[in-house]
Amino acid sequence: MRLAKYLAKAGVSSRRRAESIIRQGRVRINGTIADQPQARVGEGDSVTVDGKLIGPVEKKMYLLLNKPPGYISTVYDTHDRPTVMNLVENIELRLYPVGRLDADTSGVLLMTNDGELAYRLTHPRYRVKKIYHARISGLPGGDKLKQLRKGILVDGERTAPAAVRVLKTSGHHNTALLEITLTEGRKRQVKKMCAAIDCPVTELRRVSFAGLSTGDLPEGAYRFLTEQEIKDLYQLVDL
Ligand code: URA
Repeated sequence: MRLAKYLAKAGVSSRRRAESIIRQGRVRINGTIADQPQARVGEGDSVTVDGKLIGPVEKKMYLLLNKPPGYISTVYDTHDRPTVMNLVENIELRLYPVGRLDADTSGVLLMTNDGELAYRLTHPRYRVKKIYHARISGLPGGDKLKQLRKGILVDGERTAPAAVRVLKTSGHHNTALLEITLTEGRKRQVKKMCAAIDCPVTELRRVSFAGLSTGDLPEGAYRFLTEQEIKDLYQLVDL
C-alpha cells in the first residue's frame, strides 16, 4: 500500500495532509526516512510519524447517506448496476452499508467500517427502530391496520408488533401514506406486510434508523455522524 494511503487509513490525517507530512520528512519506514508519498508499505513494516509508531488500525468512520432510489445497497454488484458505494467514492476508507434497503427504496442508510457496531445494529436482538413512510395503493380500514400492528404472516412467519400510523389518505386516488415503525428487519418486510393486506407499496422511504434521520440532507448526499450520535449508537447496542 502507498504510504500516504496507509497513514490516512490509520487515521493519522487525510490522504492529502499525509502527503505533506511525508514530504516534510517526518515519516520513517523501518527506521529510514521515507519522504515520498508513493513509498510502499507492506505487512510487517513499522511506520512512525514524528517517532510515534502508527498501527495498521483503520480509523473508524460513520456516515449517514440519504439514499436515492435506483441504487442497490450492496458493496459489489455483479450486474454493474449503480451501488451506494458510488455515492461515497471520495471516502478513503472502505465503508459498507449497515443493513440493506431495496434498490427502489430511499432514505436513511448508515455506512461505516465499524464491523461490530454494524453487526449489532442489524442483529434482531437489539430491536433497532426503523421508521418507514410507505405510499400504498388502497385505503386500509381499521381491521387491516390492526393486523399490521399486531403482526401478520409474512413468508410463513408472524411479524413482530409494529407501530402504524396513517399520515395521509386520498380517497380520490385510493392511496394512503403510512408510517410504519419496525424493530426487526426482514427482507422486503414493509412491502410484504402491505402486500399481505392487499395494499401494495408504490413508494418507500426510510425516514429514520436507530433514531437518526436525514433532516434536510438532499437525496444522494451524506453527512458524518457527530460524536454524540456515535456515542448514542454505541449505547443503544450495549457497546
Ligand atoms: N422493507 C422493504 O420492503 N424494503 C426496504 O428496502 C426496507 C424495508
